[in-house]
Amino acid sequence: MTKKIDPCTLVLFGASGNLSRVKLMPGLFRLDSLGRLPDNMKILSVGRHEVALEAWHADIKTMLDAKFKNGYDEKVFARFIARNFYHANAPTDPDAFTKMKAALSNQKTFPQNLAYFLSVRPTDFATVVEQLSGVGLLDESKYWRRVLIEKPFGTDLPTAIALQANLTKYLKESQIYRIDHYLGKSALQNIMLTRFANTMFEPLWNNQYIDHVQITNNEILGVGDRTTFYDATGALRDMMQSHLLQTLALVAMEKPENLSPDSIRAEKIKLLESIRPIPVNDLAKHAFRAQYAAGRVCVSDGHGENVPGYLEELARDGVTESVTETYAALKLFIDNPRWKNVPFYIRTAKRMHEGNTAISIRFKKAPMQIRDEQHQNWLTLNIQPRECIKMEIESKIPGLDIATRTLSIDAPQRQKEDETIDSYEALMLNLMEGDPSLFLHIDEVKAQWRLVDPVVKAWIADKSPVLQYRAGSRDPLESSVIFESKDQFWRYSIELGGDKH
Ligand code: BG6
Repeated sequence: MTKKIDPCTLVLFGASGNLSRVKLMPGLFRLDSLGRLPDNMKILSVGRHEVALEAWHADIKTMLDAKFKNGYDEKVFARFIARNFYHANAPTDPDAFTKMKAALSNQKTFPQNLAYFLSVRPTDFATVVEQLSGVGLLDESKYWRRVLIEKPFGTDLPTAIALQANLTKYLKESQIYRIDHYLGKSALQNIMLTRFANTMFEPLWNNQYIDHVQITNNEILGVGDRTTFYDATGALRDMMQSHLLQTLALVAMEKPENLSPDSIRAEKIKLLESIRPIPVNDLAKHAFRAQYAAGRVCVSDGHGENVPGYLEELARDGVTESVTETYAALKLFIDNPRWKNVPFYIRTAKRMHEGNTAISIRFKKAPMQIRDEQHQNWLTLNIQPRECIKMEIESKIPGLDIATRTLSIDAPQRQKEDETIDSYEALMLNLMEGDPSLFLHIDEVKAQWRLVDPVVKAWIADKSPVLQYRAGSRDPLESSVIFESKDQFWRYSIELGGDKH
């Protein structure tokens, strides 16, 4: 269903940064080519340096050329370029925001509903909002104003609470759009629909039938040029606190009363708040961390590439030691009747043998055991790179004997003609539509920090050397220490049989 978008101006702070160049500008262009931007929608890019409009337009062309290697429609390009403006907001200029207000007050050029996308340093979120408010650019008496805040929202619970306090001096909760780009992924949205728009899953979705759940995000990529950010952050805060806990909330929450943003978020909040705190006095059995060492990974064209270890990458920046994890695995329990005693194993790692994000659910032993070590049923919801639902079931081997083998039923979710929408495209559209369902409520953010903070603290305090795994390998064997029972093991991608150590 296409929703109506009011005439509006998207004000893009941090427009010359990497996110904007790689995702946001090309994303807005794609939305334009799909006819999803209203005619009277403008984009005001805000950067620190003076750039003439012509040069900015030429720069946008460079961004699009880099993204759309097969070219694009010149007519759409001309329309898109005509929407784009640039404003220099020098950090040293005390009148910068007054000047921005003057620029935006040109009603002939800029529709007066304003959506701000803050793709700036997290330490600048509150300052930008304060400045916008100071010059009256958050005043909603005539037109709406919405502010999109990039991740991370704080670096722990106290900083998230402080940021929230600073923002709500100037904004109502309904004006704040906290992003978690995983929620913009269509395959993630499909979790709720798979569960509740079918009859066959919900009756089994509980501790009576489910042995355990694994939520995995593995990447082939390393930390790249983000060493400073990453070393101060680590996998727990970078991925678990946000994307993986959101995924878990969608997998485990109760059915929302309806599809309104409030109902969905209320169920996610309830779920996140019912995750049992991780016992820091028994951490070794509940949380595992490691760092990648030098190794060889698979690159896009199928060839291998030798890559340095994490500590070597840091050493290039002059950092000589670090206990920051590039691999993190947690065991979580949810304290409600549906999930009593069902472990949820969530893990994320960089520089693994494959890049894959999946939810794998193992069912309990079947009532009839035909063969030794009979495969237990698994259901996998694969999020990326392939979006599919896969079921593994036992089935008779045709012939005279009563013998079974495992069949895999694999249904791709994506069909050739389906739209490919990047998560940022979906989320920018939602921002302009005023639909907050795929953005985080502050209570979700708080519950997520509350859960990971004690582990982050304990890991930072423990300076003993962190276990190393070879880049391009599978989970370190030692990580299985968090499994509740000996017959549990990490699942990989979607291949049958390739899953045991
Ligand atoms: C980001 C993390 O939020 O998500 C990155 O900061 C990570 O470290 C990225 O690589 C993964 O996102 P995606 O969409 O590529 O799975």
